[in-house]
Amino acid sequence: MATSAPAPIAVGSRLEGFAYAIRSVVAEAKKVEESGRPVTYLNIGDPVAFGFRTPPHLVEAVERAMREGANGYTPAAGVWQVREAVAASYAVSGLPIGPDRVILTSGTSEGIELVLSVLVNTGDEVLVPVPTYPFYTATVTKLGARGIYYRTDPSNAWMPDLDHIESLIGPATRALVVIDPNNPTGAVYSEASRRELLELADTHGIVVLADEVYADLAYDAPVPPIGSLNPDAPVISFSSISKTYQAPGWRAGWLGVSGGERLDAVLGAIKELADGRLCSTGPMQFAIMAALTSSDDHKASFLDALRERAEVTTRRLNGIEGISCVPPKAAFYAMPKVELPPGRTDEDYVFGLLRETGLLCVHGSGFGTAPGDGYLRIVFLAPPQDLEAIYDKMATFTAQFRAAA
Ligand SMILES: Cc1ncc(COP(=O)(O)O)c(C=O)c1O
Repeated sequence: MATSAPAPIAVGSRLEGFAYAIRSVVAEAKKVEESGRPVTYLNIGDPVAFGFRTPPHLVEAVERAMREGANGYTPAAGVWQVREAVAASYAVSGLPIGPDRVILTSGTSEGIELVLSVLVNTGDEVLVPVPTYPFYTATVTKLGARGIYYRTDPSNAWMPDLDHIESLIGPATRALVVIDPNNPTGAVYSEASRRELLELADTHGIVVLADEVYADLAYDAPVPPIGSLNPDAPVISFSSISKTYQAPGWRAGWLGVSGGERLDAVLGAIKELADGRLCSTGPMQFAIMAALTSSDDHKASFLDALRERAEVTTRRLNGIEGISCVPPKAAFYAMPKVELPPGRTDEDYVFGLLRETGLLCVHGSGFGTAPGDGYLRIVFLAPPQDLEAIYDKMATFTAQFRAAA
């Protein structure tokens, strides 16, 4: 007997504004691959995908934890000794917080989601830099709140525009996202900017969500936690072993709450919410301890590799007619600007580049810039000789793209 297909199950409306371009561009890349052209994935900041290896002492720590039976649920906020190690590392960087104010999370991402979930009500506003790491706007939107973009200025090394931030603060503002060092721009903020950001938040009673996942990947010197500039200011710091310790798949991170009693209720609420998800990945918590308490030899060679790649990237991109790029000062991202022919968008450029050359980057509008501004983000983790070939292809494509107009 023929039966009609059951009706598709509807999706909840909360996802309507959820956009995460860094992964959604992959669908387009798959089509290009199906047409027979290989794709070079320069869209996701994963050092492991480019041959960088998780330091062996972290692998050993996880293996040992598993063999010794640490395979059950941990306390929801994480194993106490690991929380102590994180607190000690904050203290060494000038931010004295106790282990009771540290929570272990499944990467920076889960920390961000937990905190935003306890902070915002429907209609509340969260100040987010533009360009931004899009998980912030996606999560804020999912929660029924509003991401409000504040400018960062490419003509001033992508520093935040403090006057613009102040002009955006209103009764609905709950949090100020500060990503320093920054993805996607590679900026490292000046101490003066960091102090001013903190003062604004402190004065207006807004929580700084300090995304410090790239703190140790600044080329000149590690960036201390912003909260260390004033431990009484309301700051929640986020980090993980994903980037510096090249273990993004382990989903092992933490958050630290400073600001004293002012944030006690928020801390309590984060712990309550964390209870509901039981714990972060248990054996990987021991990798955090190994990372923060053992030798850091791999960091120096990783930083050397990043500096070299940043130099190639800046030199080659600025050598292409119609492209300009602010030199990155940290991490492995650059945010070049293409002078677009009239009527064309950043997506036209990025998807054209993909189809013609197989290079997959992410359009700037995926990070909140205007489509007509012509920004794109490149992950420059590939070896320098590969980067040279990548920028050769970009140069050829850019000339064609601009001439076709
Ligand atoms: C600024 C920023 N924050 C958070 C994350 C997510 O990191 P994690 O793997 O720790 O969740 C990323 C990943 O690219 C990032 O660039």
